[in-house]
Amino acid sequence: EATRTIGIFGGGTVGGGIVEILTKKAAYFKELTGSDLVVKTICVRDANKKRDFVIPEGCTVTDKYDDILTDPDIDMVVEVMGGTTDAKNIVFSSLKAGKDVVTANKALIAMYLPEIEETLANMDKPVQFRYEAAVCGGIPVIRSFQSDFVGDEVSMISGIINGCTNFMLTEMDQFGRTYDEALTEASRLGYAEADPTLDVGGFDARSKLKILMRLGFGVEVPEDKIACRGITDLTKLDFDYAKMMGGTIKLLGVAERVEEGKITAFVSPCYLTKEEPLASVSGATNAIEVSSRNLQSSTYIGQGAGRYPTANSCINDIIALAKGDKSPMPFNPLDKVTEYVDDYSSTF
Ligand code: NAP
Ligand code: HSE
Repeated sequence: EATRTIGIFGGGTVGGGIVEILTKKAAYFKELTGSDLVVKTICVRDANKKRDFVIPEGCTVTDKYDDILTDPDIDMVVEVMGGTTDAKNIVFSSLKAGKDVVTANKALIAMYLPEIEETLANMDKPVQFRYEAAVCGGIPVIRSFQSDFVGDEVSMISGIINGCTNFMLTEMDQFGRTYDEALTEASRLGYAEADPTLDVGGFDARSKLKILMRLGFGVEVPEDKIACRGITDLTKLDFDYAKMMGGTIKLLGVAERVEEGKITAFVSPCYLTKEEPLASVSGATNAIEVSSRNLQSSTYIGQGAGRYPTANSCINDIIALAKGDKSPMPFNPLDKVTEYVDDYSSTF
């Protein structure tokens, strides 16, 4: 009888959700994939910490990476611990050891996707890699970019791509909460990164925008070349002014073609009038608008952060791998962007 033996790095917000769903739907997933999906080992920082989810029977909780990396039984690794140092080693070691990998780590993907793709291309035996949860949590936006735009030409990607800050801005605007209260609540709800500076500084949105730019425009732009301003300077007065003018403030990530072969991008709080569709996107919801030649205008909307929306995307990746689906080929747009123009940094 077939078994896929899984090792999970991270037993926090996302890891806990993945374990819960795998346990709850075990019988159905077996029917769907033809395999038992067994979580053999969960690696965390503190193996003695009490978890807010049930550890499956027979599963070991460890703080030693090698308990997963060198275990020959484990053929699928799920990296949901975050960071770009140890997580990088884990992802590359796993792939090189022939283990399929699922990750939700946008910081890692933004930095190392080209290297990961190169590693995958040079493997003797095919190994699969998926990262749907890395951008916009529960929205299947990576998959859409990898499949729905192959014959299209994207001209703009724009949207709310950080759930924590959108939740905070909604709380501050609509419920009069202070910045600190809103951030505390966003962390409690599992929306914030382990280091929330990544959210409020706009850096998490910038990582996601960079990934979307690679998928939509075929361009690899150093993250620090993307102009980035977070929400840390916003005060009640800003919201009062926005309201006076009949609108609100949203943290947007925008990448657009400026002329043939050239693209520009930024992450910044923006004033939106009430009539603009993104103005009414509230809480941890994310929304991405894509302008393109064939489809013209498409909008993707859904929960961008939190335990179950994010775990849902990881589960979809795990199921796809267990079913033996091949990872989508690196997307290679017909009309690649060849130059990035930083039009905004000097004005931020
Ligand atoms: P989290 O709640 O902080 O959980 C992180 C888990 O990883 C914890 O269990 C922690 O162990 C473990 N861990 C951290 N550093 C480790 C290390 N050096 N060695 C071993 N274990 C380590 O984080 P999360 O919210 O689940 O996020 C995980 C990943 O998913 C991140 O890459 C994040 O960007 C991404 N993501 C999160 C969301 C979301 O809404 N939360 C959405 C999309 C993507 P301890 O529990 O023992 O401390
Ligand atoms: N901290 C991230 C956010 C998690 O709030 O969007 C989802 O990527």
